[in-house]
Amino acid sequence: CGIVGYIGKRNSQEILLEGLKKLEYRGYDSAGVAVYTADGLQIKKAKGRIANLESKLDETPLSGNVGIGHTRWATHGKPSDVNSHPHTDNSLKFSVVHNGIIENYITLKEELIEKGHVFVSETDTEVISHLIASLYEGDILKAVQKAVKQMTGAFALGVLTEYEPDRLVAVRQASPLIIGIGEGENFIGSDIPAILEYTRNVFILNDGEMALLTKDSVELMTLEGNFISREMFHVDWDIVTAEKAGFDHFMLKEIYDQPKAYRDTMGSRISPDGRSVVLKEISMTPEQLRSINRVHIVACGTAYHAGMVGKYVIEKLARIPVETDVASEYRYRSPIITKDTLVIVVSQSGETADTLAALREAKRCGAHVLAITNVVGSSVAREANDIITTWAGPEIAVASTKAYTSQLIAFYLLGLYMAQELGTQTAEEVAAVIAAMKELPGQVEEILKQSDALKGVAGEMAKHDNLFFIGRGLDYAVALEGSLKLKEISYIHSEAYAAGELKHGTLALIVEDIPVIALATQHELLEKTVSNIKEVKARGANVLGIALEGELELQKSVDSTFVIPKTLDLLTPALSVVPLQLISYYASLARGNDVDKPRNLAKSVTVE
Ligand code: G6P
Repeated sequence: CGIVGYIGKRNSQEILLEGLKKLEYRGYDSAGVAVYTADGLQIKKAKGRIANLESKLDETPLSGNVGIGHTRWATHGKPSDVNSHPHTDNSLKFSVVHNGIIENYITLKEELIEKGHVFVSETDTEVISHLIASLYEGDILKAVQKAVKQMTGAFALGVLTEYEPDRLVAVRQASPLIIGIGEGENFIGSDIPAILEYTRNVFILNDGEMALLTKDSVELMTLEGNFISREMFHVDWDIVTAEKAGFDHFMLKEIYDQPKAYRDTMGSRISPDGRSVVLKEISMTPEQLRSINRVHIVACGTAYHAGMVGKYVIEKLARIPVETDVASEYRYRSPIITKDTLVIVVSQSGETADTLAALREAKRCGAHVLAITNVVGSSVAREANDIITTWAGPEIAVASTKAYTSQLIAFYLLGLYMAQELGTQTAEEVAAVIAAMKELPGQVEEILKQSDALKGVAGEMAKHDNLFFIGRGLDYAVALEGSLKLKEISYIHSEAYAAGELKHGTLALIVEDIPVIALATQHELLEKTVSNIKEVKARGANVLGIALEGELELQKSVDSTFVIPKTLDLLTPALSVVPLQLISYYASLARGNDVDKPRNLAKSVTVE
């Protein structure tokens, strides 16, 4: 979810709506605003996209200089008008927007019901507004402080009361929140872009901190009310206006952005003679690096799939054992983390709650934490020891494409860097991988030129309800990402299988005419993969092979082939995923789906 707030001299409705549009990547199940108007605190909300709220507000605008707004990704309670934020209490005098989850909301709700409170929604947030109302004795700041003492879980809050229209209270506990400082006006937001149009001066709240805003002042304090002084942070970057640049969808534009993203991410990290990798951002000394005896890669979703490739890359190049975990599992399985563990967290947004929690756990255990992230200044970037920024540029479509492939490039650079420092590869071997990496952007351009060939294939696949991806080794890691992409935006059920494992159960699902996408780019495994392709063909599957140029044997064993340019086995994921991204895109289009904003999902999930 995303929250914004405004207190000042301008009409707040417009500022709230603009801010919410910047935050829509955090969820788009519903949106709402509360504005202090001449008739008191007024709330307007609407299920669905911000555009729905906007048209409601066009019909009956809310006029006033103080307000809060919210865009929701549903956790507690289905997407509906009534479950939308802002929430209020029975007196309708208080209003709250919230990002996060209140873990003890049922207990709090039961206590409030006993005291006579009546609830209209299924949300945990409504409980907060009732709790604050029940504790209010003429000072909203004190009431919020008392309320948060009773709440457990993660929350970023914006709170208003009609009784004190010149004050806005903001709270941060494990969900991001920043304060924007203007002249005669102040702002709150879940992230900097939400307010960047109005001010470049911000305070970034830490966990356990809150702020009291008036139009002329901002006071920062702990949740217990102890005042804090903090340097103002000046934002010196601009939001690159994210435009579709003539493409029908952000996703397609972002797929086509990949050659540039590869070049930018490699950029100055490759020495001018092309023989070594320069990673100035790694602060570990050669001794520290040598003492690393295991690597944990932790991430969610697509970033996790990049981590699966990262495991192969680091193990192959640097010969250190690597485990890859999804962040929501990592923390709770008592992982063995010591000061000799390198923990790599991967996150496009740098704000994913599960990933952030894993990062904190790793730091608590004394590990060195390296972040691979696309957002400079994000929570993950601020808390990690070292950061490799992926220069993919803003990624707007929910389904990640260029962020994923830039993460792959970051892993190649890191693997090579570690190999150089540890001496696990010769200088010639390192130079050979670098030379092949430099070919990748041009090779992606070659693939993109053939994108039309995939439209028909995807259109046929879109007629099916089930589909399989198979591959071995790195092809399996890419198969997982291809399958996730397809599920996310086409809603076709698909599974990715390690090709050799198929016969141990899943083969039972292969029936006449079912589409199977077989990735077969790994030389050493080619014959084995061909055997697995024959197994599914024998059961009637219709197989599309993703193969390297010149593999004619393979082409004979499948029904159709998409050919990708030749590269090293290690680097194939950076090419083979591109046709899979395009297939998902065209399948989603064929099914008439909203490609950039698939149902039920959010670009950045800031709850655990
Ligand atoms: C959400 C997005 C996914 C993304 C995942 C991790 O679920 O919908 O596309 O891969 O979060 O996001 P991150 O920003 O941490 O890479």
